[in-house]
Amino acid sequence: MKKCFKNIPCDQFKAVMRRFAANVNVITSADGGLLNGMTATAVCSVTAEPPSVLVIVNKTNRSHPIIRNSGAFAVNVLSLAQQDIALHFASRVADPFSTIDFSVGKTGCPIIAGSDAHVECVVIKEVELGTHTIFVGEVVASDLSDGEPLLYHGGQYRRLEQAQDAFA
Ligand SMILES: Cc1cc2nc3c(=O)[nH]c(=O)nc-3n(C[C@H](O)[C@H](O)[C@H](O)COP(=O)(O)O)c2cc1C
Repeated sequence: MKKCFKNIPCDQFKAVMRRFAANVNVITSADGGLLNGMTATAVCSVTAEPPSVLVIVNKTNRSHPIIRNSGAFAVNVLSLAQQDIALHFASRVADPFSTIDFSVGKTGCPIIAGSDAHVECVVIKEVELGTHTIFVGEVVASDLSDGEPLLYHGGQYRRLEQAQDAFA
């Protein structure tokens, strides 16, 4: 098996990572008139005091310089009905918000209509690690609905009921 780093088999590392079940989010950002969004599962709550979350962004993503320059991002937690939006923001389309219903948040970041929840953040810390940057953001605005979340596990989009079935 191909070793990718410090003798850890690369294929096995990726297989283990696919066992991590996660919410599907779109991290949105804005710099001047430029709006962007990227689908992301690497999103995590950090602390309640201050309210903060982290996102992990590949340095090659278009979102990376926008978040770095603007010092802000929003996490839009996708609802079950938004699988098409997850696909859209994973595909680097030109002018990605031209076909999306959204409002502009207090940080200037797009807030995607119909999301299950969102937080808007200002960046308070950046940590570079290999190919990615961890941006830690303090939450400056948030909202939520009663929707059902879109999940990702084993390389597939899933719904919460499938997980609950294990306890039926
Ligand atoms: C389910 C899923 C989860 C993803 N999670 C991340 C992530 O956490 N961080 C990341 O940098 N890219 C992630 N990606 C890849 C980005 O969505 C993709 O590279 C996107 O095109 C980047 O957009 P941008 O270049 O416009 O910023 C994920 C893709 C999918 C389909």
